[in-house]
Amino acid sequence: MDKDFKSVLLDEKTIRRRVSELAEEITGDYAEPDTELVVICILKGSVYFFADLTAKIKRGVNLEFMAISSYGGNSKTSGEVQVIKDLSEPISGKDVLIVEDIIDSGTTLRYLKEMLEPRKPRSIKICALLDKPSRRKTPIDGDYTGFRIEDEYVVGYGLDYAQRYRNIPYIAVLKPSVYQG
Ligand code: IMP
Ligand code: MG
Repeated sequence: MDKDFKSVLLDEKTIRRRVSELAEEITGDYAEPDTELVVICILKGSVYFFADLTAKIKRGVNLEFMAISSYGGNSKTSGEVQVIKDLSEPISGKDVLIVEDIIDSGTTLRYLKEMLEPRKPRSIKICALLDKPSRRKTPIDGDYTGFRIEDEYVVGYGLDYAQRYRNIPYIAVLKPSVYQG
């Protein structure tokens, strides 16, 4: 394990198993054949989760990508949300599933939902790999949640600290000394 990590929170096998369960649930919930399902990857944190999840959904989906920024280089949310990359197609009349790495304060997803709702999708749901409910400032919940976790800063499987650690294949708790300097 990396010297910057306090512990491994979720190993590869645990993540894989849960992602399969979520994909199965989603496949069952969007079983109507003639609907369009747009699955949105929120870059960059959900990139591995999105890839693994969508590959296991057993129906046609449109893959879309959005980039949002709500963080500076630190581990505390700034509360400011900015759209860096928008969708490449209209979502009106379509089912939309937002795939996010983690719900923390809820600010990002609240903003995203408010931004996408006026585009008149048929439905809009959230699938988050991780959820830190104790940190919530805005009342918002995932429709599909991988794991509820304690208030600790985690990295890996897409999640970063100042753009580092994204490509480790498991999820680890970062030592507070790394971000407290
Ligand atoms: P929110 O707007 O406060 O809910 O923040 C959501 C975003 O904060 C996520 O998409 C992550 O990019 C980032 N974030 C929150 N907690 C963590 C963490 O423990 N590790 C890595 N990124 C995090
Ligand atoms: Mg992030």
